[in-house]
Amino acid sequence: MKPDIKNRDDIKVFVDSFYLKVGEDAILSPIFNGVAQVDWETHLPKMYDFWESILFGTGSFRGRPMQAHYRIHQKYPFKEEAFARWKALFNMTIDEYFYGEIANQAKTKALSIATVTQIKLMQQ
Ligand code: HEM
Repeated sequence: MKPDIKNRDDIKVFVDSFYLKVGEDAILSPIFNGVAQVDWETHLPKMYDFWESILFGTGSFRGRPMQAHYRIHQKYPFKEEAFARWKALFNMTIDEYFYGEIANQAKTKALSIATVTQIKLMQQ
């Protein structure tokens, strides 16, 4: 049976694997590598902090996801299919490595943040 997500090292496993998929994805890579020109060496540790804050309440994340997404959305509006792909790849990655309560929380939180982000961006 697969383990649950227990700590920051486990978070690194799914974050690294998820963004590898994103970087190779026909819909998402043009946003991350093209429009946003993401510097992965900065983005990945930020995402470890983000998920550690969400799942284990460490409060280590300092960032403004809504602002970052809005900035990109202004240059290249996020479409329904981008959100659908983001959610599918995220869930697939969690299920690939982990199983349990925290793994479920990661998927639920991702879904709710994606939904709120999508609604807010669509209102702009
Ligand atoms: C269609 C779906 C999404 C796309 C295309 C997308 C794209 C991006 C991009 C390109 C950045 C980098 C911004 C930059 O460095 O300038 C970013 C940052 C970020 N994204 Fe997303 N994102 C999506 C959904 C989500 C969701 C659902 C979450 C949360 C569960 C999330 C969390 C974050 C966070 C925490 C950052 C860092 C913000 C910061 O630097 O302060 N994203 N996103």
